[in-house]
Amino acid sequence: MAPPSSLLSTALLHSTTACSPCCCWRNNLPRHIHRRGDHRRHTTILPTRRPHIPRAPRALLEPHASAQSLLRAVIEVNPDALRQADRADRERRSGDGKRRGGLHGIPVLLKDNIATGDRLNTTAGSFALLARWSLVTPAWPASSRAGAVIFGKASMSEWAHYRSWHIPSGWSARGGQGRNPYVLSAGPCDSSSGSAIAVAANMVSVSLGTETAGSIICPSARNSVVGIKPTVGLTSRAGVIPVTPRQDTIGPICRTVSDAVQVLEAIVGFDERDAEATREGSRYIPLGGYRQFLKKDGLKGKRLGVLRKVFLDSYDESIQKTFEEHFDTMRQRGGILIDDLEIANVESIIDPTRSGEFVATAAEFKMSLNATCPS
Ligand SMILES: *[C@@H]1O[C@H](CO)[C@@H](O)[C@H](O)[C@H]1NC(C)=O
Ligand SMILES: *[C@@H]1O[C@H](CO)[C@@H](O)[C@H](O)[C@H]1NC(C)=O
Repeated sequence: MAPPSSLLSTALLHSTTACSPCCCWRNNLPRHIHRRGDHRRHTTILPTRRPHIPRAPRALLEPHASAQSLLRAVIEVNPDALRQADRADRERRSGDGKRRGGLHGIPVLLKDNIATGDRLNTTAGSFALLARWSLVTPAWPASSRAGAVIFGKASMSEWAHYRSWHIPSGWSARGGQGRNPYVLSAGPCDSSSGSAIAVAANMVSVSLGTETAGSIICPSARNSVVGIKPTVGLTSRAGVIPVTPRQDTIGPICRTVSDAVQVLEAIVGFDERDAEATREGSRYIPLGGYRQFLKKDGLKGKRLGVLRKVFLDSYDESIQKTFEEHFDTMRQRGGILIDDLEIANVESIIDPTRSGEFVATAAEFKMSLNATCPS
């Protein structure tokens, strides 16, 4: 679980990340691994000239070998990634590509708790689940994958930090200690740590994480990338190692707001294997999708609350100063900031012991696992 104080700060920080019209998105991206460069670019998952890709699967990681050995962002590389990329290329050439969805041919790194029903293991970082989980759970649905090439599995805090409250953030027995590429000694924050680290270090442009309580937005904030935590039920959790069905959700982690929105649009929707939640969630998908909201002047007239008490107040001066600069940018762009917003009992709400969150999620975790795991 992520420290609650990070929740708001992430939302705020990330709403200031350069947001742009996504004029340049195209679906026809063959086996594009990533594009190095400024992560403030409008859209980074753009087609570029086809890179030379060595044929051995492990070699997908080769350009990133030194980053990987330092940062431990990736647990497994997909031995079938190149085949999937070839297929995407063929489909694209034959004009078939559109049918396979908005991520057609784009390499996506998945958190190690999302089953793919292929040769990749799905273990939540734990040796206990090695070669087991895929036996008992269906794969995350093809419709949600939207034609993506599965690059591999990202490291994470073991069992989404439910192995113990006391393990370090970003650590798992299988993956080792994931590290923040900006400040190696700083925590990457859990539990979708590898997903955020890999994007921050330019190893991939798109990754998916899962969140129960802060696990997408906290690592996104700490690693300076953009994460979206979708409303529960917008994205199918079929094939995901559960913590609690009340709160679990899958969402994108990318380098820009525009990328994250495009990925979100590609993965939302009804799935009969997570029917109850996705039926309800689907009702909130806007007609015409999410990309229409990527507007340069999108902040104009939007009312944004600033919670200082227990959130901003807990940071040191230099961080607070950075926030003020971001607030100014938002005001300049037409945002209406409601400063010093108060929420009654906020101390209790964000304290997982007093709010009962710890007790509830731990019990639900056990029940969910019993329902899906072999004993
Ligand atoms: C899955 O785990 C098994 C057992 O450790 C290993 O032999 C296999 O290579 C793993 N799969 C991948 C794709 O790494
Ligand atoms: C989970 O399963 C174990 C083993 O069958 C059982 O002892 C335990 O009571 C179950 N717990 C819950 C919460 O269902």
